[in-house]
Amino acid sequence: MLLSGDENGDTKGQSTLHAGAGEPQLQQHYIRSIDSMLTIRQLPSQGLSFQLWPAATTLVNLLDDHRRDPIKSPLSPVLSVTSNGLDCRPLKILELGSGTGLVGIAAAVMLGANVTVTDLPHVISNLQFNADSNSDVLKANGGNVVVSALSWVEAGDVERVGREFDVILASDVVYHDHLYEPLLQTLYLLLGGRETTSFVMAHLRRWKKDSAFFKKAKKAFNVEVLYEDSPSEGSRVGVVVYRFWGKQIRKSGLA
Ligand SMILES: C[S@@+](CC[C@H](N)C(=O)[O-])C[C@H]1O[C@@H](n2cnc3c(N)ncnc32)[C@H](O)[C@@H]1O
Repeated sequence: MLLSGDENGDTKGQSTLHAGAGEPQLQQHYIRSIDSMLTIRQLPSQGLSFQLWPAATTLVNLLDDHRRDPIKSPLSPVLSVTSNGLDCRPLKILELGSGTGLVGIAAAVMLGANVTVTDLPHVISNLQFNADSNSDVLKANGGNVVVSALSWVEAGDVERVGREFDVILASDVVYHDHLYEPLLQTLYLLLGGRETTSFVMAHLRRWKKDSAFFKKAKKAFNVEVLYEDSPSEGSRVGVVVYRFWGKQIRKSGLA
């Protein structure tokens, strides 16, 4: 096995253990706030659901910064919902399109949260492998990860995982235009008419057509930018982290 570092383009805080082309890759992520490593298995030969995407790394870094300095964190307005007054319980988080699961696992570890990571059925065994691989770090930090299949727009899947989440996370889930509507419909099932749950999405804009997703989203949800990463070398845009929350449904005719 070869340990590759920055010279191979790996981002700061990450290293990859290569077992050979087309073989599983174990990638290690250093989480500074808890001085621990998370290990994620990627299976690049099996497609895009089995690789770590750039927006995921931005979200993990933001969570790490949040744990170190919540006051300065752009995520504070969203993550402090259960830590005020008498309601001091662990956050309940849902991740959509988790892929390798790094974001959800990192959120559980860094926030001591109960996190449900989800994806299409064929992705679940790798997600479960990654959750199990980090069970020691999860145990040491009080977080919990549940793995569940959730296909966007399958109302039955949403019903099974429930709607009672404080925060919904996702990274790099806006890419194929035929998925815009299913993702928005799933968000509507989860957030519709409720202002108390936020959807936090990290997105690296690659195509002009992405704006159609945001145009549609703004009709159903309030949308704001929480954070913008500086572009990586050779790129014109950086990862942007958005917050969506439900628009209150006002009944016409009522005083
Ligand atoms: C570009 S990958 C991003 C993966 C991961 N979030 C990351 O940032 O590394 C998009 C993810 O969305 C998932 N996905 C695509 N269509 C989906 C659907 N209809 N229902 C649920 N998940 C879906 C894919 O399986 C994949 O894991």
